[in-house]
Amino acid sequence: MSTLVTYFSAEGTTAMVAKEFAERIGADIFEIVPEEPYTEADIKWTNPLARCNKEQIAKKDVPVRGTIENFDNYDTVYIGFPIWYGQAPRVIYTFGKGYDWSGKTIHAFATSGGSGIGKTAEKLSEYVTGAISVDAKLVHSAAEL
Ligand SMILES: Cc1cc2nc3c(=O)[nH]c(=O)nc-3n(C[C@H](O)[C@H](O)[C@H](O)COP(=O)(O)O)c2cc1C
Repeated sequence: MSTLVTYFSAEGTTAMVAKEFAERIGADIFEIVPEEPYTEADIKWTNPLARCNKEQIAKKDVPVRGTIENFDNYDTVYIGFPIWYGQAPRVIYTFGKGYDWSGKTIHAFATSGGSGIGKTAEKLSEYVTGAISVDAKLVHSAAEL
């Protein structure tokens, strides 16, 4: 059994942490990319009509491009993302719903503009059926993982 590092990053910060961490521990890595990638306008959260706001308010699914091969081979999965609206972005929930997490331990990690980790782990738990456990940590660098 082995470890997989997955991440979604809209602006590059979480990507840097995820890549450095995966390299350090020698884990496989999977980037969670929305089928329709976010443009700069899409994530302008100060605009009430921006895509990110609409998705958040309507609790929309955000389909993910591609699937993880041999998902059954992993017993520990890291999921990295930026904090959006005090929690994981909707695309992470859609990603979670797409797999059977039975027997897996999930370590979520997030970067943020200042918010804490809040109830990120509890909220994510609702979307990762069967996971043994889910914890979440706010990080500023891969060294904190
Ligand atoms: C749509 C959106 C919502 C955000 N909401 C929050 C928030 O609630 N709290 C916070 O501290 N930062 C928030 N941020 C800032 C990001 O969490 C922060 O810049 C993060 O490090 C970006 O990671 P990335 O470069 O991997 O996308 C938000 C950013 C966006 C684009």
